[in-house]
Amino acid sequence: MSRVTLRNVWRTYGEQVVLERLNLVVEAGEFVTIVGASGCGKTTFLRMLLGQETPSRGLLLLDGTPLAAEPGPERGIVFQRYSVFPHLTVQDNVLLALELARAPLLGRLFGRARRAAREQAAAMLDAVGLGAFATRYPAALSGGQQQRLAIAQSLVNAPRVLLLDEPFGALDPGIRADMHALIRQVWKASGVTVFMITHDLPEAFALGTRVLVFDKPRVDPQAPQAYGATITYDIPLRGRGPVAVPAELVRKLTPVAEAPAHA
Ligand SMILES: Nc1ncnc2c1ncn2[C@@H]1O[C@H](COP(=O)(O)OP(=O)(O)OP(=O)(O)O)[C@@H](O)[C@H]1O
Ligand SMILES: [Mg+2]
Repeated sequence: MSRVTLRNVWRTYGEQVVLERLNLVVEAGEFVTIVGASGCGKTTFLRMLLGQETPSRGLLLLDGTPLAAEPGPERGIVFQRYSVFPHLTVQDNVLLALELARAPLLGRLFGRARRAAREQAAAMLDAVGLGAFATRYPAALSGGQQQRLAIAQSLVNAPRVLLLDEPFGALDPGIRADMHALIRQVWKASGVTVFMITHDLPEAFALGTRVLVFDKPRVDPQAPQAYGATITYDIPLRGRGPVAVPAELVRKLTPVAEAPAHA
């Protein structure tokens, strides 16, 4: 059970309003995808959910309780680029994630607790298809395998909320499709609440049960910092059959340089 609630959440940095008036209720087990122009505050939003940032104003609740101001094992995060430790083997990377959660001061477990953690790490690696790579170092893995490892690291503590910041952005299309299958399987099996940022609209609409669009509803050309982004669309997807990506969103979110040229 992990309902996430935001009540009038703002985040400012000095004079710059990055996010404003965020109001949202996400039920346990939803798969929320997040899209929006570069720099509009998507990562900032995720970092607030993680507890790496605090709202400047407003309330952020996890199951009705204000979110702890520090990241904890109930929330796991996967970044766009490989965040694994290069000097540790695949299995030790996952083991360390368990040790840091269970023995936060020492970062180490001993005896029976360590053996149990080893077994759990091995099972997690099997689940993401890395069982055969347990003793390798990250440098000897492909990009997709490294991202699997990052996912294993964040899932091994059975987080209630999984935060994904463009986790597949650096991967080839074929590997991305594999990762989509993996993440959906993990989500269905665990019932974890997912928030995933992506720049890829079709990916957002294919994976999510709900798409949030972040955008600035107000812009003052004289004072570009005065207004922040908020949730301008909240699109439910499940139970409605396939949903096409709205053309208006494609226009809004396609960077000018990538837009098709009209001769
Ligand atoms: N710690 C910070 N101090 C000052 N400004 C910050 C800080 N973190 C983020 N910002 C500003 O907040 C704005 C939003 O940044 P954020 O990284 O959340 O955008 P984003 O939507 O994730 O962009 P992208 O799609 O490029 O990843 C940017 O203008 C950024 O400079
Ligand atoms: Mg970002």
